[in-house]
Amino acid sequence: MSKILVTGGAGFIGSHTVVELYQSGYEPIIVDNFSNSERSVLKGIETIIGKAPKIYAIDCNDKLEMEEIFQQEKSIQGIIHFAAYKAVGESVEKPLEYFHNNLGSMQVLLELMLQYNTSQLVFSSSCTVYGQPEKLPVTEQTPFLPAQSPYGATKQMCEEILRQTVAIGHKPLKAISLRYFNPVGAHPSAQIGELPRGVPGNLVPFITQSAAGLRPPITVFGNDYNTSDGTCVRDFIHVVDLAKAHVKALQLLEKETSDSYYEVFNIGTGKGSTVLEAIHAFEEATGIKLQYKIGPRRPGDIEKIYAEVNKSSEVLNWHTELSLKEAMRDAWNWQQKLQSK
Ligand code: WQD
Repeated sequence: MSKILVTGGAGFIGSHTVVELYQSGYEPIIVDNFSNSERSVLKGIETIIGKAPKIYAIDCNDKLEMEEIFQQEKSIQGIIHFAAYKAVGESVEKPLEYFHNNLGSMQVLLELMLQYNTSQLVFSSSCTVYGQPEKLPVTEQTPFLPAQSPYGATKQMCEEILRQTVAIGHKPLKAISLRYFNPVGAHPSAQIGELPRGVPGNLVPFITQSAAGLRPPITVFGNDYNTSDGTCVRDFIHVVDLAKAHVKALQLLEKETSDSYYEVFNIGTGKGSTVLEAIHAFEEATGIKLQYKIGPRRPGDIEKIYAEVNKSSEVLNWHTELSLKEAMRDAWNWQQKLQSK
């Protein structure tokens, strides 16, 4: 089985990708320092795939420790790089920590890949790189606007580091950046899902915790936007569909014959949904009537964004299979499982 290093593999998207990798015949090896994930995730993965995933509990920024993995694992075929700080608001408070961690880990990985002849990299990027696009749906050719946060800036910079390192072509390097829209939901088995720490900043975990009585009714941040019902529009994609896109990206890199290859892909549903539509999708999926109130806009929020995904379906041979309603069903099942523990 081909070894794939999954940095941040105990995280929300990382853990779902580890499952899909294993079920597609790869040997995923998790690298995670648990700075923003829980060890309990490993048990959930084991329950789904039937064996304990291999794990190195180290910081991707630590080049000496990372190098030991390359020496110990011998032939690593590829890397999927999730490990990064990812809270937009926190990045505004701690910009230099975000630059050090997110850019530093990319630098360490690329240096070791070139040194140990690991030539395939899939990078976890984000639609945040686009800012508020003028034209929708947003395509991969949409030019970057100045980043709206240090977090978004690190994603833009990491993509540029990748693009330039591939272009220099000192050694074979094939890379893909996947620009995620809004990952939501949980594994249908309810063994793994989102584990926000503290008060959830993101919409769906707040919805499920509010529905479970752990939080007050949700506040909808603004209903005076220029959208169908006044609330923001996002492209909510089921985390399992998103995880499968990473397997497709690896398969594309395996087939790629040139020594230097770099491409970016939008990974979304191609459909925009408003915040209120997301709330109603939860209600339809679960039969639970959600209490919510309308509050002021949240600073930094963009009004609407959703993906044009033709390139992903044509070149990556990937498309979404699960609906927002199914994502809400799976998110709720996961919330209930958490409460039963
Ligand atoms: C979605 C919508 C809120 C909470 C962020 C990052 C992005 C990616 C996904 C990392 C917005 C509204 C939310 C609430 C609300 N993360 N909302 N009440 O901000 O689109 O994207 O997470 O890659 O990079 O920017 O996601 O879930 O926070 O918000 O009304 O209690 O839900 O205003 O319109 P966002 P979100």
